[in-house]
Amino acid sequence: MRLVLLGPPGAGKGTQAAAVKDRFGIPHISTGDMLRGAIAAGTPLGWKAKQIVDGGNLVPDEMITEIVRERLGAPDAKRGFLLDGYPRNLGQAKSLDIILGGLGQKLDFVLCLHLSDAEIVARLSGRRTCDACGAPFHVASAPPKAAGVCDSCGGKLSQRADDREEVIVRRLAVYQAKTAPLGAFYKERGILTEIDATGGVLEIQERLFAALSGGG
Ligand code: AP5
Repeated sequence: MRLVLLGPPGAGKGTQAAAVKDRFGIPHISTGDMLRGAIAAGTPLGWKAKQIVDGGNLVPDEMITEIVRERLGAPDAKRGFLLDGYPRNLGQAKSLDIILGGLGQKLDFVLCLHLSDAEIVARLSGRRTCDACGAPFHVASAPPKAAGVCDSCGGKLSQRADDREEVIVRRLAVYQAKTAPLGAFYKERGILTEIDATGGVLEIQERLFAALSGGG
């Protein structure tokens, strides 16, 4: 299974991707996590990306596409993958076609999560993320068992630099301008399923699983 999870910031892509990964045994490839990993490690990529990511803008296509090309060529992506955060604009969608064409593969599903701006702001402003493994929590809807500590790996939970309100507004604008048009791009191909991302995590998970098993 080769799939892309689309949706605005805070719609629950990372949360749902973890469930899809476990259910279908495919790697979760998040370009946001890769960039944050590079920033935390202080690599040359991280230095270049930090200011752009913290400001809520997209890093240049060529910077991210090479990382995705390399990751999709790894052995664990041969049986399938879930892409989260890529593609982010039409140019990246076309690059993805080229990468997959070179591997003799094509996308099976594109799932697009939909959520109101008010709910997005509520989810993002309460989000806490594990510094070590990237697992997402929420101070109200998905609190960790011990305050500030990751349930999965015991790492420290922090607030992302791009979850400040003024940056959230910028990220939403970038999503509408650059990423939302990808819905029409994949609809045209007949592989898009729109998913209502309101409600509880398990409810939304059921909608995703139904779509992936052909019942959505
Ligand atoms: P990225 O990491 O991809 O961020 P994003 O798309 O803005 O999405 P988020 O990670 O903020 O949200 P999510 O949808 O995963 O929600 P989550 O599950 O955490 O990108 C970050 C930046 O990197 C970009 O701005 C850009 O600079 C750069 N970048 C990345 N990819 C790029 C690319 N391809 N090209 C160029 N630049 C790129 O959930 C959010 C919160 O809500 C959590 O607290 C969670 O616990 C809670 N929650 C989840 N579901 C529910 C629910 N059902 N009910 C209540 N709470 C819930």
